[in-house]
Amino acid sequence: MAAVEGSEVGGSEVQLAAVRQVAVIGAGLMGAGIAQVAAAAGYDIVLRDVTPEALERGLGTIRSSYAKFVDRGRMTSDDAEAALARITTTTDLDAVAGADLVVEAVFEKLEVKAEVFRALDAICQPGAVLASNTSAIPITSIAATTQRPESVVGTHFFSPVPMMRLCEVVRGYKTSDSAVAVAKAFGEGVGKTVVVVNRDVAGFVTTRLISALAMEAVRLLESGVASAEDIDTACRLGFGHAMGPLETIDLTGVDIMLNAASNIYTDTQDETFAPPELLRRMVAAGDLGRKSGRGFYDHS
Ligand SMILES: NC(=O)c1ccc[n+]([C@@H]2O[C@H](COP(=O)([O-])OP(=O)(O)OC[C@H]3O[C@@H](n4cnc5c(N)ncnc54)[C@H](O)[C@@H]3O)[C@@H](O)[C@H]2O)c1
Repeated sequence: MAAVEGSEVGGSEVQLAAVRQVAVIGAGLMGAGIAQVAAAAGYDIVLRDVTPEALERGLGTIRSSYAKFVDRGRMTSDDAEAALARITTTTDLDAVAGADLVVEAVFEKLEVKAEVFRALDAICQPGAVLASNTSAIPITSIAATTQRPESVVGTHFFSPVPMMRLCEVVRGYKTSDSAVAVAKAFGEGVGKTVVVVNRDVAGFVTTRLISALAMEAVRLLESGVASAEDIDTACRLGFGHAMGPLETIDLTGVDIMLNAASNIYTDTQDETFAPPELLRRMVAAGDLGRKSGRGFYDHS
């Protein structure tokens, strides 16, 4: 907390201290993960999705993940029960109106996020911080759909949220120091190491770097320079990466990486990020990586 109370934070301590109720919009892979770590850290969570089925799936994931932590002795069953009891699920967006911090984790499409942020703008209390878990959409574009762009910030968590230690906090063009401080305190409060991205260039730092590497890896494969295995081995053994770029695409989802790189390419017009034809054809064919059983590798 000491780092957050530094001089650039200004008068945000009151707001920081007040963050208690957190709403998470979207109970998919990321939303459920964020709700899970936040509830375990003691925050009260309202988890909102559009259908009861999506909420039940999200809650099921959280329940089984807590059970694994308990089995491994990393959490007591009492703490897991208490954390679960701090999560309320709802399909009613009005239920998030009282939140101090809202973290949006819906589909990675500006139109979908814009609809959510316009609705949040209309119902949330003044001073509430509205965060997006987007991987690549500029926070400034999301913020511009609201009348309170100073309160909109990026909190980019990584998958699987309970395991991955990083959170990128992203400042949009009009994001206030206080909203950045609240987001940073939240990221640290749920046990992550936070890096602050001072300008919301498309892809921020992490998606920008992995997209450049991954698109080049696909181009090398496509043009027959090396096999998928050799490209990944080169990165693992040559650079000490935990995973090669093509393995990373398979894990993240071929469609997700195509979308992320396309967004950066649209914004920058930099050919580094132009998705190669092979990636588009894989998505059209349904080879989406681990989740579909096949991507650059056979996962069946
Ligand atoms: N999957 C990853 O590895 C990863 C990593 C970092 C960031 N992200 C980002 O996190 C966000 C969510 O990704 P995900 O993988 O969890 O997606 P997901 O498809 O697993 O989940 C999205 C959820 O949002 C719900 N939803 C859609 N519209 C909604 C609305 N209006 N209100 C409430 N819920 C709504 C859907 O029903 C779904 O349950 C995206 O912006 C994505 O780019 C994803």
